Amino acid sequence: MKKTAYINEQIKKFNKKIYIPGDKSLSIRWILLASNAIGKSFAYNLLKSEDVLSALNAIKKLGVNYKFIKNYCEIYGKGLGGFKFKNNTIINAGNSGTLARLIFGLLINVKNQIILKGDKSLSKRDFSRVIKPMRMFGQNIHSKNHKLPVKISGTNYPRPINYLESKGSAQVKSCILLAAMKTPGITKIKSVPSRDHTEKLLKYLKLPIKIKREKKLDLINLKGIKNYKGFNYTIPGDISSASFFIVLTLLSKNSKILIKNVNVNKSRTGIIDILKKMNSKIILKNKKIYKGEQIADIFVQNSKKLKPIDCPVRMNTRSIDEFLLIFLVCAVKADGVSKFRKIGELRNKETDRLKFANDFLNKIGIKTKVNKNSLNIYGNTSLKLDKTIEIKKFDKDHRACMLSFIAALTIGGRWIIHDIDSINTSFPNFVSILKKLGAKIN
Ligand code: S3P
Repeated sequence: MKKTAYINEQIKKFNKKIYIPGDKSLSIRWILLASNAIGKSFAYNLLKSEDVLSALNAIKKLGVNYKFIKNYCEIYGKGLGGFKFKNNTIINAGNSGTLARLIFGLLINVKNQIILKGDKSLSKRDFSRVIKPMRMFGQNIHSKNHKLPVKISGTNYPRPINYLESKGSAQVKSCILLAAMKTPGITKIKSVPSRDHTEKLLKYLKLPIKIKREKKLDLINLKGIKNYKGFNYTIPGDISSASFFIVLTLLSKNSKILIKNVNVNKSRTGIIDILKKMNSKIILKNKKIYKGEQIADIFVQNSKKLKPIDCPVRMNTRSIDEFLLIFLVCAVKADGVSKFRKIGELRNKETDRLKFANDFLNKIGIKTKVNKNSLNIYGNTSLKLDKTIEIKKFDKDHRACMLSFIAALTIGGRWIIHDIDSINTSFPNFVSILKKLGAKIN
């Protein structure tokens, strides 16, 4: 794949139906859970991206075999105690924070030591958020400054824990749930609500999990089990990937799109609620439930102008991966000030996304006010770009890169976007879908 893209033309009006690839969060969770089930599991429409391939490589290192042909994948699980690997086996999580954090949970009871490492961006990220609860379970972890690489070995006698997860991190919550599943007794988590795919999968597998909402927190109890059987799954489309096309359509004059078969789990659809509050026309069609997950087709129509938003903080975890796109809409489609508070978690993603967003908006001529934890955007619907914008040095953050394509195709100017291979971590056919819609990309 080429490393640099040049875009000099805005996309022309389109009216199309598209399919986007499988959900990344669900693909990785299915792989990790299938690796610990007894017997064969298979999945259709598994996302074929670098993060997902890192997850498959990881289970292979743990002695679990798989077959992956096109988008059909089979995993031959050996049960909760079934991992077999040599001491000091190295697992490389690549760019995937989800894989790296969730896998701690699965390693709660392993005897030999694992060395867990990641790429440059992942090695800068914080792992104290999972190291702390995992040590409470009894896992042995050696790390420098709570960063990768880390050395992990399990315990024969994991202890159930009571834990307050206050960041709204689904990765931390899921890591604890995976450890809890292998730990005798009841683990209790109080968690700021975040994406709940792991809970839904555990429920579908009939594990003894109880969840209730109390005073804005989710109280989750999970009792350790001995084993569970292999299971099959058809992975629905990824709302985070669909969001690039939702925003492309909103920003492209006279355009319409129908995005088929997307996972619209309530814990992921903050972007739709925020954009609707701003007056966008977005309709969910053909709603159905699949194994606890809500699926729908998303219809979007371009609108002339939107309203700015004072974004309610409760939306934050529901739109955590979509903020860059939401900021772009506020910047070029809504006159007035849009406000976002308590969004400091954006600084802990593949790159510091709050800094990236602020620099990006200023670069295209949008006024902002930023601090550690918040961003105000002074929207300007009459923005006209007639200069060259070069996007580089974003720690190869796939979402920062794809955002730049959407801006380039909708607001004019001449764009040079570097490190476009970063897109392969989550959405390898992103550029080919853009081209099908008529985008001119060199
Ligand atoms: C994810 C959770 C979120 C999200 C990430 C995927 C998951 O991270 O940003 O892209 O699959 O659990 P946090 O848990 O750090 O918020």
